[in-house]
Amino acid sequence: MSKRTFSSLATRSVQIGVGRDEKTGGISFPIYPSATYRHPGVGQSTGYDYTRSGNPTRQVLEDALAELEGGVRGLAFSSGMAALTTLFLHFSSGDHLVVSEDLYGGTYRVLDQVFYKFGISVTYVDTANTSAVAAAVNPRTKALLVETPGNPLLGVADIRALAAICQERKLLFIVDNTFLTPILQRPLELGADVIIHSATKYLGGHSDLCAGALVAKDPDFGERLYFLQNSTGAILPPQDCWLLIRSLKTLPLRMARHCESALKVAQWLQKQAQVEKVYYPGLSEHPGYELSKQQALGFGGMLSFRVADPRLAEQVLERLQLISFAESLGGVESLMTLPAVQTHGDIPEAERQRLGICNSLLRLSVGLEDPTDVIADLEQALG
Ligand SMILES: Cc1ncc(COP(=O)(O)O)c(C=O)c1O
Repeated sequence: MSKRTFSSLATRSVQIGVGRDEKTGGISFPIYPSATYRHPGVGQSTGYDYTRSGNPTRQVLEDALAELEGGVRGLAFSSGMAALTTLFLHFSSGDHLVVSEDLYGGTYRVLDQVFYKFGISVTYVDTANTSAVAAAVNPRTKALLVETPGNPLLGVADIRALAAICQERKLLFIVDNTFLTPILQRPLELGADVIIHSATKYLGGHSDLCAGALVAKDPDFGERLYFLQNSTGAILPPQDCWLLIRSLKTLPLRMARHCESALKVAQWLQKQAQVEKVYYPGLSEHPGYELSKQQALGFGGMLSFRVADPRLAEQVLERLQLISFAESLGGVESLMTLPAVQTHGDIPEAERQRLGICNSLLRLSVGLEDPTDVIADLEQALG
């Protein structure tokens, strides 16, 4: 059956996999657990030979990831770190990368403690400062990796301006789009070359799945990434591919509600005496507010806030009743973390202090509960 293509992301999301099961017409695309496939004859293939190299359920998911991001090739991995690791394997000893300093601690850890050993060097910069990025590029630089909004301080990088630098200096431009998803931010259309996701977060959306994704804009580079994925093998199993397909169908609805609720919570936090600073790009005081309005379709569901002292931060975490004190983000349930100890614990303390990731900074992933209840929980926890 040939399928019409729709411009609306809401329609595309809901329709993922519909019409792809030609044998039965199943609306929900089936899970193919088979590890291997019978060949019709010597030198012949059904299109599937071995599940690491290709799987029908993963194919539907990977096509959907590419379509939603506006790329040509999507690849699904067993975690966001597996996606990043596979991407970093593209580089060779002697290569240099410029990377956001306000980024997920695990990305810092794999670069600093794993890829460093293989001769890949990194300069961390404030990617919200375009001139700092340009200044960090040297003749050995091969790529720029940007997480925007940043993690956990929510700094906003100018994707178009950074794309211009990458084009001029012939750098691969990688954007970690985990926080906003293609529903709110479309980096490939703004000049990026590759998107990376921790699909464990908003794409999965229900705190019940660990997955990662890469999406390439260029078919040749997509093929290169597929070669690396197939060679090293960190693929997403078919059962999890199916779960992620199901999750993606509600992504636009979820993202709209995350944005609405996070803004309400951020505005409320701003008025609290115990809160020294709120980091949310949807607040007009945020330095990335205007830029976010230009390059994104929403401000997302993530915010951080700093309370007066570390003891109060601990008190908040211990008193939470509705919000869970837990790592991760992007689920339907609200989650709060202490980045200095948890997600960013692998960043050296002096560096964390310089960045402002102190022990009184709390990060909140605003879920899909009634925002009034989230605010009431924060109110009692702040005491
Ligand atoms: C922005 C970002 N990128 C990548 C990762 C790594 O993804 P995963 O935990 O799925 O391996 C995370 C995890 O928290 C993240 O927050």
